[in-house]
Amino acid sequence: MTLRTIQTQPIAGQKPGTSGLRKKTRVFMGPQYLENFVQSIFDVVQAAGKTFVLGGDGRYFNDRAAQVILRMAAANGAARVIVGRDAILSTPAASHLIRLNKTDGGILMSASHNPGGPDGDFGVKFNTANGGPAPEAVTEAIYARSTEIGQYHIWEGQDLDLSRMGRQELGDMVVDVVDPVADYAALMERLFDFPAIRALFAGGFRMRMDSMNAVTGPYAVEILENRLGAAAGTVVNATPLPDFGGLHPDPNPIWAKALMDEMFAPPTAAFAAPDFGAASDGDGDRNMVVGRGIYVSPSDSLAVLAANAQLAPAYAQGLAGVARSMPTSAAVDRVAQAMGIAHFETPTGWKFFGNLMDAGKVTLCGEESFGTGSDHLREKDGLWAVLLWLNILARRGQSVAEVMADHWARFGRNYYSRHDFEGIPADRAEAMMARLRGRVSGLAGQKINGLLVAAADDFAYADPVDGVVSKGQGLRVIFDDGARFVVRLSGTGTEGATLRLYLERYAAGPEGLDLDPQMALAPVIRAAHLLADIAGFTGRESPDVVT
Ligand code: G1P
Ligand code: ZN
Repeated sequence: MTLRTIQTQPIAGQKPGTSGLRKKTRVFMGPQYLENFVQSIFDVVQAAGKTFVLGGDGRYFNDRAAQVILRMAAANGAARVIVGRDAILSTPAASHLIRLNKTDGGILMSASHNPGGPDGDFGVKFNTANGGPAPEAVTEAIYARSTEIGQYHIWEGQDLDLSRMGRQELGDMVVDVVDPVADYAALMERLFDFPAIRALFAGGFRMRMDSMNAVTGPYAVEILENRLGAAAGTVVNATPLPDFGGLHPDPNPIWAKALMDEMFAPPTAAFAAPDFGAASDGDGDRNMVVGRGIYVSPSDSLAVLAANAQLAPAYAQGLAGVARSMPTSAAVDRVAQAMGIAHFETPTGWKFFGNLMDAGKVTLCGEESFGTGSDHLREKDGLWAVLLWLNILARRGQSVAEVMADHWARFGRNYYSRHDFEGIPADRAEAMMARLRGRVSGLAGQKINGLLVAAADDFAYADPVDGVVSKGQGLRVIFDDGARFVVRLSGTGTEGATLRLYLERYAAGPEGLDLDPQMALAPVIRAAHLLADIAGFTGRESPDVVT
């Protein structure tokens, strides 16, 4: 083994967002690309003497990248790296290990729900000691470092055997290979009423968990089948594959269509749909839940979890508060009001929740984009949400449809949908946003498609913990009956611009709780198109993805 310092030159565009640096896999595999970025991280966080967690979602290049990162960590003087066996860790499991072992942070290899493989995406993200994504000051510093980098340090020699559990040495650094599942499963067992869920399965309750050939497979098999007694085969697509078997591991009704079809299939003499279905994404932080014949929107899921969390041991004392991202529906706000607890509205992205949780202001939080979590760690957590649902179903003794009907009868229903327009030329999308931004301030009091605008703005957020102000977080138009739409551009895509249109309309009930969401939202959809001229700017009349 030789310690080497290699001369390098900055590579343009290594700017990490809240989800880290995400690029085409081939870009990451290019000369010195990974090395430059990882050295930038180690320079900024001052790796010498530190302990880190390392793992990824198993996508193509995960194994090679792990070897490089380990050899660079050692060469930069890190004391210890805790790595999941075969370099596998789900994002929530990595967040938990960072906290459990009181490490100085971790490096997560994933591009979340983006497809994997040589033609797919890869990503690297640094999480800080609280277990959450690095704050903007850190990601900006990493980016700045990448623009001036001149050399990186690496041990050259044999690969480590990461399939072997236990301790190994790399130069002066210790590498501990750990079971990726064990600590996470133990945490879940502490949070939830496992005996009640076990009794539910023992009573014949049937579930389908679609791990989409991504990282949650081993976690779901261990927890659902081995510990909770769900029937063998409950978890499908349970082996993480480098290209996710060609699936797009994004748990929504479009990409998890096989699950949706099964859950909505009409009963026959030989077949009845499972009682409960769930799916998770590439790195395991997202979730979708679906009952027999009923889809639960992520915004509604967050509201139901908040309203019923006390049925789980970890939340029996009640919630400190709840938070949702601005485009997420206000369903959870109604629950918080009824419970007399605080609710927060943050910009899109998980990092804003971390501050609120570190300050003890919030216990549960979530986003409309299939992300839900709690203060048990500092990432969203797909299996956690699935287990809390199971806990609630077990303790209430009701079906998903019954739980939803009760919830809407009590709180009313926030009809909700997101329309995505993908692969738009960036200049067209920017032009549309600029025009709309110029118009929102003067909209109050005007009518669009017969709907009276009560307020409209470009959402800005002042963090109640550190006071940092985030501007330009999405254009929102709110009508006098509480209906609204929000328009923003995606910050996570790797090709062109993705325009997201978020739509919401409240029905107090008891009538009008059973509409098709697209029908219920039709007037708001029309108003958004009229105002933003989406077709004029993008050439698209209808969205590519509706969730
Ligand atoms: C998307 C989601 C957002 C989520 C992020 C990371 O970001 O909309 O809620 O936090 O992925 O999972 P966007 O592409 O909209 O910027
Ligand atoms: Zn993810």
